[in-house]
Formats: sequence, structure tokens, C-alpha cells
Amino acid sequence: MGYVAMHVMVPEAEILDISVRRQKQGNGLGKTLMKNVVAHCRQRGVETIHLETAAGDDHALAFFRSMGFSTIRRRQGYYEDAGDALAMALDIGGEP
Ligand SMILES: CC(C)(COP(=O)(O)OP(=O)(O)OC[C@H]1O[C@@H](n2cnc3c(N)ncnc32)[C@H](O)[C@@H]1OP(=O)(O)O)[C@@H](O)C(=O)NCCC(=O)NCCS
Repeated sequence: MGYVAMHVMVPEAEILDISVRRQKQGNGLGKTLMKNVVAHCRQRGVETIHLETAAGDDHALAFFRSMGFSTIRRRQGYYEDAGDALAMALDIGGEP
């Protein structure tokens, strides 16, 4: 129904891909996946989770922002076909 691909290099982690099957989107599965990622990372001692997403992907941006990610920089022309990328980060260090 969904998956997350990531790598962890404590104290940093990077989400390479997160996806929920199209017919199941909008039902909270993405949020559940992401909460599990955060819990797993926190347990491992990760302080910051990074990711990159297409600047024009309003749905993905709304999703990541709803999970607390902030944009830290724009990478112009990063994707050959999808334009700029936004580098986003979520600080989880120091939280319970
Ligand atoms: C992005 C993705 C993983 C989100 O998973 P999901 O199961 O659809 O998301 P959820 O139902 O858990 O929604 C979580 C939050 O995201 C936001 N969101 C979800 N769908 C949205 C939509 N269509 N429009 C705007 N915001 C949306 C909402 O803030 C939502 O919180 P709320 O329900 O409390 O309002 C999923 O839509 C997906 O697989 N998309 C295609 C792949 C992709 O773009 N991956 C990200 C780039 S790597």
C-alpha cells in the first residue's frame, strides 16, 4: 500500500522516496508512514531528516509541510523534466 526509502547516517537521515498507492492516498497512510519514520529516526539518534521534492508538486509540498518540514533551499533546474527542487528538513532533535 505504501513505502518509504531512506538512508540514515546519524545524526542525519534522508528520505529518498515516500509513496502511497494512488487509490489509497488521502486516507492518512502517508502520515502514518511518516510518523513511523520519525519514531524510528528518533530511536536511532537522528536529529534532522532531509528530503528533496519537486518545487511544483503542490500535493507533496502540502503533505511534507503538514508533517512539519520546512524549505531550506531551492535547487534551480534540479530535475530535467520537473524543474526546480526544494530541499526540506525536519528537526527532531531534542523533542520527546
Ligand atoms: C505524498 C503522499 C506520500 C501522501 O500520502 P497520503 O496517504 O496521500 O497522505 P495523508 O492522507 O496521510 O495526508 C497527510 C497530510 O498531507 C496533506 N495532504 C494529503 N493529500 C493532500 C492533497 N490532495 N492536497 C493537499 N494536501 C494534502 C494534508 O495536510 C494531510 O493532512 P490532513 O489529512 O490532516 O489534512 C502520497 O500522496 C503519494 O504517494 N504521492 C505520490 C508520490 C509522491 O509525491 N511522493 C512524495 C515525493 S518523494
